[in-house]
Amino acid sequence: MKIKILLFTLLIVNLYANKTEGRNVYLVNCAACHSTTMQGGMGKDFNLVSYTRTKKDIMHYASDPQTYFKKFGYTANAMPTLPLTQQEVEDVADYISSLQPFKKWMVKK
Ligand code: HEC
Repeated sequence: MKIKILLFTLLIVNLYANKTEGRNVYLVNCAACHSTTMQGGMGKDFNLVSYTRTKKDIMHYASDPQTYFKKFGYTANAMPTLPLTQQEVEDVADYISSLQPFKKWMVKK
C-alpha cells in the first residue's frame, strides 16, 4: 500500500516537473516570437496549434523547422533552428500539447 502511494506521488511530481520545465524552455526560447500568452506573435496561435498538431509534430518543428515548414503548409521558414537538447524539445512539446485538455479526442492520429 505504501509503495503505491509513493509511486503515485512520484508520478504526479514527475508530470508537474515536466510541465514547469517545458514552460521554462518555452519562455526562454520561444516566447519572444510566439508570445507569452500563446496567442501568436509570429506564427500561429499556440492554443490552436495544440489542437491541430500532435506532440510529435511539435517536437519535429521545434527541433528542425527548416525540414518541416513545407509539410506544415508554410512557403518560407522564418524560425531559427534552436540549440535545444532532446529533453528540452520533449518538455516544450509536452507543455504546448498540454494547453488543450480535450486534444486527445479532437486530434487526428
Ligand atoms: C525567431 C522567431 C521564432 C522563435 C524563437 C521560435 N519560433 Fe516557432 N515559428 C516562428 C514562425 C515565424 C513560425 C511560422 C512559420 C514561419 O513563418 O516560419 C513558427 C512556427 C512554429 C510552429 C508551427 C506551428 C504550426 O502548427 O503551424 C511550431 C510548432 C513552432 N514554431 C514551435 C516553436 C517552439 C517550440 C519554439 C521554441 C523552442 C519556437 N517555435 C521558437 C518563429 C519562431
